[in-house]
Amino acid sequence: MLSKTAKKERRILPLFKLAIFISGSGSNLQAVIDAVSDGTIPDAKVELVISSRDGVYGLERAEKHGILNMVIDRNDPARISKILEEHKIDGIVLAGYLSMIPSDVIKKYNSKIVNIHPALLPMFGGKGFYGIRVHQAVLTAGVKYTGATAHLADREYDTGDVLVRSVVPVLEGDTAEDLQKRVLGVEHKTLVCAVKALAVNKINELVKNPVTIINEQDKEGVREFAYGLMRLGSSLTETDNGGS
Ligand code: GRF
Repeated sequence: MLSKTAKKERRILPLFKLAIFISGSGSNLQAVIDAVSDGTIPDAKVELVISSRDGVYGLERAEKHGILNMVIDRNDPARISKILEEHKIDGIVLAGYLSMIPSDVIKKYNSKIVNIHPALLPMFGGKGFYGIRVHQAVLTAGVKYTGATAHLADREYDTGDVLVRSVVPVLEGDTAEDLQKRVLGVEHKTLVCAVKALAVNKINELVKNPVTIINEQDKEGVREFAYGLMRLGSSLTETDNGGS
């Protein structure tokens, strides 16, 4: 229980300012906005939204919530750095952003950039694995499980430390679109869990002990698979099943 003084002190702490990068419909952006507004992500503010594409629905979502939003061409890294600095951004969320973040931003925001990827990294990640292609690759590989991974962004695509994973089954007769929908359904929770850790300065705990989220209603096999992932922890990157 916080004392009255502690409560007062807590209120005057500055909010953790987030910049969210998008390229599409922004359902992950919406999940973060909702989690900030209902307190799931405490003491944070979605300060600005940057899109690599014009006319996407994610920009409308930002507008609806009165959040400053803009389109910045991926070939204009200086503008990205400048706007982050002007707004004193504390942390960055890549929520379906299809471009590479400028290297000076990666350096400055070391361990403060969270990305969401629609597969179980390190499988089905890296350059060229985006959008529906990821799910097509999962089907081609014939693996039984897929999911979503929230991880720290570094200079490569999808190689930073894993923070949170969610597992979903690949079902008989699934199309890539079915998988995309099922995975998107778990991405939001996965991303929110990682962004919360970012905002409360606990990202290192997730780096050391990544969280795996499972749905209690899922088949027993999915749960076992998730427990297996947890046991493997970061050494998962050393396995060679590659899904191919
Ligand atoms: C998500 O599948 C995300 O993982 C991927 O792009 C999609 C974006 O969805 N990188 P949304 O724009 O958040 O709805």
